Amino acid sequence: MKFLILNGPNINILGVREPEIYGRQSYDDLRRLVSEHAKELGVGVEFYQSNHEGDLVDAIQKAYFDGIDGIVFNPAAYTHTSVAIADAVKGVGIPTVEVHISEVSKREAFRQVSYIGAVAAHTITGRGLAGYTEAMDYLAKLLGERK
Ligand code: DQA
Repeated sequence: MKFLILNGPNINILGVREPEIYGRQSYDDLRRLVSEHAKELGVGVEFYQSNHEGDLVDAIQKAYFDGIDGIVFNPAAYTHTSVAIADAVKGVGIPTVEVHISEVSKREAFRQVSYIGAVAAHTITGRGLAGYTEAMDYLAKLLGERK
């Protein structure tokens, strides 16, 4: 089983950006945490991060052709704006868990819309970086049950 850990804009500057909201751990710390958890789960992981909308669409399409089984996806700001990314997730049909580090439901009005949420298998918010490993657990269980 192989998961794509996909992150949108500004997730590469975790630890620098608004640490009071997103914490002090870096993107590399996130990669380490996810890699360790993947070993425990016995799954493979690939990472991709981009600050560009079309690159994220391309990565989702590539995941389909590469036979990726599940996607853990923090679309960051594109969550609230991108029909193209939501269409890609829906189009490839790969089970996708939407993850947000912060508790978006308690933040600004413009963050209350999620185009990805409408097409995701599940959404995890406000759990910090642990949201990513919880999303992996969710996908492993979901895909295990489907077999
Ligand atoms: C975020 C929440 C988004 O609203 C924001 O634009 C981000 C990060 C989160 O992980 O909490 O960049 O997706």
